[in-house]
Amino acid sequence: MKSVYIRGNASLYGEVTIQGSKNAALPIMAAALLVPGVCVLRNCPRIADVEYMCRILVSIGCRVDRKGREIRIDASGLTDGRLPKEYVTRMRSSVMLMGPLLGRIGEVSLNHPGGCVIGDRPIDLHIKALSRMGAACRDDGTGLTAVSGGLRGTSLRLDYPSVGATENVIMAAVMADGVTCLENCAQEPEIGWLCDFLIHCGASITRQGTGRLLIRGQRDLHPCIYTIPSDRIVAGTYLCACLAAGGEVLLKGAPEGENDALEGMAERMGAKLRRTGDALRVKRAGPLLSPGRVETGSFPAFPTDLQSPFLVAMAQAEGESSMRETVFNGRFGVVAELNRMGAGIEVEKDTARVPGGRRLTGRRVRAAELRGGAALVVAGLCAEGDTLVENRSYVDRGYEDICRDLRLLGACVQDG
Ligand code: UD1
Repeated sequence: MKSVYIRGNASLYGEVTIQGSKNAALPIMAAALLVPGVCVLRNCPRIADVEYMCRILVSIGCRVDRKGREIRIDASGLTDGRLPKEYVTRMRSSVMLMGPLLGRIGEVSLNHPGGCVIGDRPIDLHIKALSRMGAACRDDGTGLTAVSGGLRGTSLRLDYPSVGATENVIMAAVMADGVTCLENCAQEPEIGWLCDFLIHCGASITRQGTGRLLIRGQRDLHPCIYTIPSDRIVAGTYLCACLAAGGEVLLKGAPEGENDALEGMAERMGAKLRRTGDALRVKRAGPLLSPGRVETGSFPAFPTDLQSPFLVAMAQAEGESSMRETVFNGRFGVVAELNRMGAGIEVEKDTARVPGGRRLTGRRVRAAELRGGAALVVAGLCAEGDTLVENRSYVDRGYEDICRDLRLLGACVQDG
């Protein structure tokens, strides 16, 4: 697998345009299955997971044309609900095809989905909700089959505001008979973008207060042209990089109002943030203060996807801090590699204690999942000496070209 080579002791100065959002693009691509006609999706990130999703859609009878960042999906000829094992086991997001396939053709079968090694990733909430809507789901130990003679709208309350389960219910409900009232749903911005896309296609979805959606089933959706918003996690990763390494960067297209928890933390640590139009300027010149106690959670709390890159900034801060991970129980896997670089982080149960003020040392380290891999690249920027991050393909699942972007921010980073 390819690597990323990073020359350490970098401060970042420059401008970068934030790519389209992975977590918005994937469910919207899945939702295109509900539309008999050509949906045009612009600003799709050029990343491995989007490519896998294109291949899955082709394998079930869709026409998919991809030119640069524009993807045209024509699901008129959709006939097959059997998802190919090769991609399903590689990409967790394939689970979000269940709702639209059940809604559109009444059947779906898939192997247990794969994805990043960040902890237990059951799909019980998806199955429970789709069953309540009239799907008969059967798990034979290796995979899952679900069939339905017609989904029906109902009142549902998720036991936990799962992003993927919320997306599945929304897509199934759009095709169901009657009205679905979904409570305790996820409120991540990507839910809003999915609803926005479906509303552009003619769906009737209304948000009622906090965590409640009302979806009126409607079978005749029409195609639309839709621009995928920019990626809050990529913007957040580069904000963490500037925080940890110091400097001044302009993040063009950084979404507004989607990273408030991180941005508040960055200001608490002494960074200066200024928004001009759709760009966010981040400046960290002086010492980095400890952020104290941080805890991940569902939106609008601190995002679990930025926990690992933020740990690197915490390790650079003056004074001790702690990070409690409440979403994925395997998210501290990267700590062992950060500690090999000298971070001195101690993990006990769901909490990492970060002593801070540690000078990191460049090393050969190994990515084992997407955001942890990005964190190792960020750590390489602040380290003394050079770092080689192996298994770069994990990072490429979510970042179009992290080397290109960091070079635009003035770092000396190369494909290894
Ligand atoms: C999505 C994001 C991922 C992000 C996560 C949380 C995409 C493609 N991925 O993942 O980047 O880190 O939201 O913001 O959008 N759970 C269950 N049973 C279920 C479903 C989930 O117990 O049926 C648990 C999970 O194990 C986890 C928690 O709920 O502990 C959150 O998972 P969920 O919100 O579903 O995350 P994903 O949709 O997989």
